[in-house]
This record gives sequence, C-alpha cells and structure tokens, in this order.
Amino acid sequence: MSDGAAGDAVVVRAPAKLNVHLGVGPPREDGFHGLATVYFAVSLHDTVTARPGEGLTLRLTGEGTGVAGGPGQVPADRTNLVWRAAELLAGAAGVRPDAELHVAKSIPVAAGLAGGSADAAATLVALDALWGTRAAREDLLGLAARLGSDVPFGLVGGVALGTGRGEQVTPVLAAGRWHWVLGIAGEGLSTPAVYGELDRLRAGGRVPDVAEPTPAGPVLAALRSGTAADLATALSNDLQPAALSLRPDLRRALRAAQDAGALAALVSGSGPTVAALAPDEQGAVRLAAELAGVGVFRTVRAVTGPVPGARVLP
Ligand code: C5P
Repeated sequence: MSDGAAGDAVVVRAPAKLNVHLGVGPPREDGFHGLATVYFAVSLHDTVTARPGEGLTLRLTGEGTGVAGGPGQVPADRTNLVWRAAELLAGAAGVRPDAELHVAKSIPVAAGLAGGSADAAATLVALDALWGTRAAREDLLGLAARLGSDVPFGLVGGVALGTGRGEQVTPVLAAGRWHWVLGIAGEGLSTPAVYGELDRLRAGGRVPDVAEPTPAGPVLAALRSGTAADLATALSNDLQPAALSLRPDLRRALRAAQDAGALAALVSGSGPTVAALAPDEQGAVRLAAELAGVGVFRTVRAVTGPVPGARVLP
C-alpha cells in the first residue's frame, strides 16, 4: 500500500435525488412498501474521497456533520452507510477493508434527498477503483440494493424508474433539462415514520387506499416531451400527505413555493425538503431568491438535472 498522498486519491461525486413520481403500494410481508417511482438526480452533490489506509477510517465534514456548524446528525462510525458499503465491498471482493474515507457533505441529512444513499453508492464506486476490485456493474447494483432501497439509483443517476422496494432501477429517457429550487426545512423526517404515517392515514380512510403502487406513466410521458409545464402537471408523491400530517408547517412551505412562481411544488421523497419546479434557469434563480426571503426554509438551493450518478472524477 502507498502512503496516501494526494495522487492516490479517488474522488467520486454523489448527487442528491428527487422522486418526480412516488407511487406507494401497501406494506409487503417484509415491511417494505412496493413502489413505482421515478428518480431524478440533481446537481446538489456530496463528494466521497478514498485514499489508501490501514484499516478503515471515516471523516465527515460539511452539512449536518457538526464540523462546519451543522447540528451533527451523521455518525462517523460503522453504523454509517458509507462504512457498511466499504465492509460489504471488501467482503464480496475478498480484500481487506483498508481505506481512508472522507465524505464532504452538501446534501442535507434526513431531508428526503437520499444523501446517505448517494454517499454509499459513491463509496462502492470509489473503493472499487481504489482497490482495483473491478466488480461487475450487476454485482455493484446487488451490493447497493443490500445497503438500502435508494442506493442502486445512486449508481445509475440520471432519470430512472424504480420498482420493487425502489431497488430495481431502469434508466428512462428524459429529453430535457429541468430547473428546480430545493427548500430545505429545519428538522429532518424519519423515512420509516413517514411510511408508517401513510399506512395509518390509509387505514383510517383519510387518504385513498391502493392495491398497487400508482404507475408512473404520466410523468414518464412528460419527461419525454421535455417541457417544464408538462412535468409540473404530472408530478406526484404518495408520501406527501403523510409528511404533511407529521409536519403541518410544510403546507406553508408548499404554498410559499407556488406563490413565488413555481410551476409546481412537491415534497421530495419522505420529506421534508420541498422541490419547486421552475420554468427555466432564470426562473429558478428568481424563485430561489424569493424563497430565501420568506423565512420558511433553512436553506434554499437552485439545482438542475438530470445529472449522472456516482462517477470517479478525473
Ligand atoms: O431501504 P431503506 O433502508 O432506505 O429503507 C428505510 C426504511 O424506509 C425501511 O426500513 C422502511 O421502513 C421504509 N421503506 C419502506 N418501503 C420502501 C422503502 C423504504 O417501507 N420501499
């Protein structure tokens, strides 16, 4: 092993995701919910850097880590999905898990943007390169699925249909570039709590029950047509009523986005991030400025997409 000089570093960019369609079925026997979802990777990235090391070490900096003023919600130990990704790949490849890992976080934690999943996918890609394990794409996707439902999409990026519990990912055609403003509200939401709340609301008849996840047809058609207005009318998220039930203040956030000129606004994944679709790039800049001033969001970011999944940077 070398001494970990900068030249040995493998750097991978990990994009956040939105769900532009999230159809949720009833709970399955394994406790997960069947999904028909459309993932959409956006230009808000964490960066995972892997260097040669003795044993495994993990350092986290930036958003939510407590290092740059964040509240420190991310553990830098073996419970972190990044650590588990490293051990899983090492075990599968039959190599020792020797690496120094650094995750520079920009994606907020527990925000419905799959930041932890993106970091785990990026770690698989970084360590595959660092260790020269040359895992087949299918094998990496299989390891990713074992780490979490959203992790395989982190490898694929772009726009993709997710089925099963979200781990079966098929890239789909998207004939355009879309501009969003992400409004990140104060406190994170727990994904299992939001799924549980949806089950409760459905059982109580407060939202319609379904036998199957709603298919993604309209959003897929809108993504092929390329116009922001078409996409705006097709956006949907079954978890939104559950996120709103747990965090009623999000209604105000959605309304603020619409009042500020968004074509549409929805809760991203299990929330609490609000994704507001802008008509174009200029519109996104204006919308971001407006939303930064309304006092509803902790952070406001203008992003674009689709962008590629976890890739080694040159
Ligand atoms: O797969 P992942 O570890 O990201 O899932 C976190 C939790 O979210 C699961 O334990 C489950 O409670 C919920 N979940 C679900 N159905 C899915 C995906 C996640 O109920 N399709």
